[in-house]
Amino acid sequence: MEKLNGKKKLRVSVFISGRGTNLKSLINFSKRKSSPIKIVLIITNNKNAKGIYFAKKNKIKSLFINYKNKNNAESKILINLKSHNINFICLAGFMKILSKKIINIYKNRILNIHPSLLPKYKGLNTHKRVIKNKEKFTGCTVHLVNSKLDSGKIILQKKVRVLKKDNENSLFKRVLKIENLIYPKAIKKFINSNL
Ligand code: GRF
Repeated sequence: MEKLNGKKKLRVSVFISGRGTNLKSLINFSKRKSSPIKIVLIITNNKNAKGIYFAKKNKIKSLFINYKNKNNAESKILINLKSHNINFICLAGFMKILSKKIINIYKNRILNIHPSLLPKYKGLNTHKRVIKNKEKFTGCTVHLVNSKLDSGKIILQKKVRVLKKDNENSLFKRVLKIENLIYPKAIKKFINSNL
């Protein structure tokens, strides 16, 4: 771990595949003097991920990993995590499932954000299913990553009311705003109680 401002900061790698609003929120959080994290490396499986812009803007190194062969991709990821002394990973819209090869090395050191109130609505198209099932509430969850999809220990959740007039897109937008708010809070909470 790196000592900054007299305190130890976690050296974090954020994995993204697209837009990157959660990445943006984590970068803003990391820039605070009192932040417990330093974002050192952005990893993406998508060369055109819009979120890479936030890495560039903030002079954070980003690395494209070709996922044609998952095993090779993960080996390359591990080499880079090691060479950058990464001790914590945040998945933020990363559309690949990590295998045990990475999860076992970073056990209890990988967080993910998911757009539902887990354990409900694991997987994709959460908002579409929530609307179809006429749920009154949905939300978002930050959880630890284990080898089962969207199933690790829940660190922080926030409820969002589903309005009668909501469609998939309006709900997505409202939940995403809340995601951006809770991800840094979840990291703080996790670090304070576990590290
Ligand atoms: C978010 O809805 C997150 O919950 C899901 O993927 C989306 C990523 O959004 N895992 P962004 O790229 O952070 O804007």
